[in-house]
Amino acid sequence: MKSARAARGATQSGAELKRRRRPRIVIRATGGRDGVLGEGSDVNSFPVGGIAVVIGASGGIGGAIADALDASGHFAEVVRLSRSSMPTLDITSEASIAEAAAGLARIGGPLRLVFVATGFLHDREVSPEKSWGQIDPAHMQRSFSVNAIGPALLMKHLLPLLAADGKAVFATLSAKVGSIGDNQLGGWYAYRASKAALNQIVRTAAIELQRRRPHAICVALHPGTVATALTGPFAKTGLDVQTPEAAAWQLLHTIDRLEPAASGHFLDRSGQPIPW
Ligand SMILES: NC(=O)c1ccc[n+]([C@@H]2O[C@H](COP(=O)([O-])OP(=O)(O)OC[C@H]3O[C@@H](n4cnc5c(N)ncnc54)[C@H](OP(=O)(O)O)[C@@H]3O)[C@@H](O)[C@H]2O)c1
Repeated sequence: MKSARAARGATQSGAELKRRRRPRIVIRATGGRDGVLGEGSDVNSFPVGGIAVVIGASGGIGGAIADALDASGHFAEVVRLSRSSMPTLDITSEASIAEAAAGLARIGGPLRLVFVATGFLHDREVSPEKSWGQIDPAHMQRSFSVNAIGPALLMKHLLPLLAADGKAVFATLSAKVGSIGDNQLGGWYAYRASKAALNQIVRTAAIELQRRRPHAICVALHPGTVATALTGPFAKTGLDVQTPEAAAWQLLHTIDRLEPAASGHFLDRSGQPIPW
């Protein structure tokens, strides 16, 4: 059997999958709170070593999470996957997800953390609907494909790979606008509905996970409003907008404090439950 490093070289060529050691860095979160990422980082509840993987590492929040995990030096491998990594991972393709899962399995270490930071809200052609008159089947299909079906396929292929003992977390970024109970404004039909579907999938998978790996945790997290390409067109005054680095620090702090009882819940970046 090949060593983990040899296997990695054979299956995960390219800078995106290489472990990168970074110097200790300090991140200033909103509200004047400093998050120190580096030695003694906020992922100390995980056993040292093993693998952390960030899906959507090319995005604003995903990139900041991967950088923070690298800076912590806590995991033996921080694997960054995206449509521009090598190998590529397109969350709308099950074959691509299965290939990535096989590559992770070949690395050989316990899979401790899966952080899913992919998502779709808009692009040059498509904007969130302001009225039911703008509902478009192709827009809805794409939203569900990226925001709900893709994470479900990641669960199918990666939950079975989670470490057999010790802390293990599958965290996926949802959005508060996916909350049905909290919906006061309307609009954004496709995004809201696809995130609500994601929340139900997280809850359902967590029930099965509890039977198979009672120590493991599967959660949906709302990151708050974060300055990324996803939110750029909707920037307005009065919002509490965070940098991706501050959001990453808070999200990792929350993940670090999660216990198995939190599995199947929809939490904000501070770990507080959001109504379904
Ligand atoms: N920013 C916020 O304020 C906010 C608020 C609530 C929830 N969220 C959620 O947080 C998550 C991350 O958002 P962000 O703000 O970091 O957005 P972002 O910077 O636009 O990142 C989105 C990521 O999704 C990836 N992606 C899109 N379609 C994909 C596909 N088919 N296959 C693989 N990757 C795909 C993008 O990859 P490419 O680089 O290849 O396009 C990118 O890595 C999303 O789920 C979003 O709904 C964000």
